[in-house]
Amino acid sequence: MLTQVGIVGAGPAGLVLSHLLARDGIESVVLESRDRDYVERRVRAGVLEQGTVDLLKATGVGARLEREGLVHHGIELRFEGQAHRIALSELTGGRAITVYGQQEVVKDLIAARLAAGGRIEFEAAAVGVDGLEEDAPVVRYRQGGQERQLRCDVVAACDGSHGVGRESIPAGAIALYETEYPVAWLGILAKVAPSTEELIYSYSQGGFALHSMRSPTISRLYVQCRPDDDPASWPDERVWSELHARLAMPGFALAEGPILEKGITAMRSLVVEPMQYRRLYLAGDAAHIVPATGAKGLNLAVNDVRILADALVEWYRSGRDDLLRGYSAACLRRVWRVQHFSWWMTQMLHRFEGESEFDHRLRLSQLRYVCSSRAAATTLAENYVGLETV
Ligand code: FAD
Ligand code: DHB
Repeated sequence: MLTQVGIVGAGPAGLVLSHLLARDGIESVVLESRDRDYVERRVRAGVLEQGTVDLLKATGVGARLEREGLVHHGIELRFEGQAHRIALSELTGGRAITVYGQQEVVKDLIAARLAAGGRIEFEAAAVGVDGLEEDAPVVRYRQGGQERQLRCDVVAACDGSHGVGRESIPAGAIALYETEYPVAWLGILAKVAPSTEELIYSYSQGGFALHSMRSPTISRLYVQCRPDDDPASWPDERVWSELHARLAMPGFALAEGPILEKGITAMRSLVVEPMQYRRLYLAGDAAHIVPATGAKGLNLAVNDVRILADALVEWYRSGRDDLLRGYSAACLRRVWRVQHFSWWMTQMLHRFEGESEFDHRLRLSQLRYVCSSRAAATTLAENYVGLETV
């Protein structure tokens, strides 16, 4: 197979890239190791920044998002049995977030690409990228029990945190900066109306909990757990009892419902620098991982490919490669801002094993400050809705 841009991975990064390139007449092929049903059902993130929503709407894939997405103008921080509202829109000149499941974004993009004649190969797992030294990249992939090849001008590795794109770069050409957090999240999807209108991030003696939602009838909730926990050690009764305890506040009642989905997500930070090697570009989780507390993973992925698409369009149009050469530096400014924000939110909202009463009191002081100072609240709000310039 032959194409202009070979894209590995049909997650948000790969699909948005393919969509943006097609709008400028650039051909791509997306290789995805899973089947279509699997990627359309995979439950993950749910918070879209203002900039992500604007991009999806402006490029013609925002119709259902506009109808079904839940626009939120604030979030709640809850601690010491009290609720504090961070007025996102008021503090950011009217910007907001939209709650819309990642798998819905993925569904909309797949439908749009296929309707436009785009090529997405499902159950096609990339195994390696060759020809990088000769500037003639070839993605080797397995499909239907056979090894095949995709020849292209450039490769975009949008294959997530365990992809093969990054591994195709020679050791020594990139550096990895990372840290792990001694906590994880157990996330559930429950068939019950949300018990809150806005997202609740709660810090309690027992640890962190988050109440989010997907629709007027589906709730998405998370509880802090241990990184080595197994979902089996979290039967439904334990999940609900921890959620009740950690979200407790006078006058608040948490409604329970059947649990449709349950999974554990580790909390870690990783940045790959640079995010490119010759004609191979890394985007999204393939290049960086953030802990979920800041709700940034998907948004950062979309920002990378927005920059990459502009650079590729310029290269194909004029032969100029300065934008492509500057791709990594252009992305990394936001990547590190978001890393800091996600790290800060994670530190502020979790209890860590073995920490002292001093740490707990510092955290409460930080929370009180964020909720009482307009300047501190604005810091949280402008990062949460997504900074316009970084
Ligand atoms: P992905 O969405 O991971 O897409 C990569 C795609 O590449 C996948 O479809 C994968 O199947 C495919 N692929 C991988 N290897 C190959 C290969 N060799 N060949 C072909 N295809 C391949 N963020 C939040 O903000 N909040 C959350 O609650 C949250 N929960 C998460 C839960 C989990 C389990 C995970 C893994 C991530 C979560 N995230 C969350 C992060 C967020 O979902 C990601 O940042 C986002 O998916 C990044 O998009 P992406 O396109 O870069 O990568
Ligand atoms: C959701 C996920 C997050 O990581 C977060 O910070 C807020 C909301 C969600 O899945 O709805």
